[in-house]
Amino acid sequence: MLFSEERSAEVVAESFAGTPDDRLREVMTSLVKHLHAFVKDVELTEAEWAIAIDFLTRTGQKCDPSRQEFILLSDVLGVSMLVETINHRTGGAATESTVLGPFHMVESPPRELGDEIALDDKGTPCLVSGQVTGPDGEAVADAVIDVWQANEDGFYDVQQPGIQPPGNLRGLFRADADGRFWFRSVVPRYYPIPDDGPVGQLLHATGRHPYRPAHLHFIVQAPGFRPVTTHVFVADSLYLDSDAVFGVKESLIRDVPEVDDPARAAEIGLGNPFRTLTFDLRLQR
Ligand code: BEZ
Ligand code: FE
Repeated sequence: MLFSEERSAEVVAESFAGTPDDRLREVMTSLVKHLHAFVKDVELTEAEWAIAIDFLTRTGQKCDPSRQEFILLSDVLGVSMLVETINHRTGGAATESTVLGPFHMVESPPRELGDEIALDDKGTPCLVSGQVTGPDGEAVADAVIDVWQANEDGFYDVQQPGIQPPGNLRGLFRADADGRFWFRSVVPRYYPIPDDGPVGQLLHATGRHPYRPAHLHFIVQAPGFRPVTTHVFVADSLYLDSDAVFGVKESLIRDVPEVDDPARAAEIGLGNPFRTLTFDLRLQR
């Protein structure tokens, strides 16, 4: 069969019919079908095709060991969240997942329960705590909790080497025998995703903002359970309903109430008043 406008998808899909790997054949056939349908739908012009090639070229050129512009593109198109959600369905029985994001690029420093992770003397003091349980609410022993967040100025430590202390606002904790964890930090703040590259230009050209609502990242693992990569979002944050990467799920939003109790503040080593963020995590087997 020769190429024609009408049968373009069929002709190209047929060229992949001999792909030995079943899954690769399925993916390429579907990709061709949808890609051709898209080009026909918008009747892509040659000038637009050239702009798209240039955009993708610049997206690749922006990548380096600490910057992944293609993942950022996937993020702002909602593809990262869709892949994450399809692959981590919980049926409502476990803590929902959300995007990993690009800033888990260093190992979090091991810390003891109760430690302070805010090392830059900025932000509103906050006690973060919770319990890791299994599907039936049973306590999970030996859970390991990896957390990271941006500072008061909206940057992760890895974005500001020489300005923030290394390991600022990161920690690797081991929960106690009842799955409980607690540590001292600051209330997270909303911040922009890196927008000085082609993805930022795309957001700008389409009238979208680059902001993510305030959140604290978690990866929680325990023997015998599926790990979960997620965030807890601050209930009164700006951008909760317009996250640039579509990461917000209703079940992950928490209030961060203020506590005015000088004795309790002194006991846990925080300034008074302080805020509290409670995030319990339920793991699937
Ligand atoms: C983050 O939350 O760290 C993040 C996620 C996706 C893109 C950029 C940042
Ligand atoms: Fe983040």
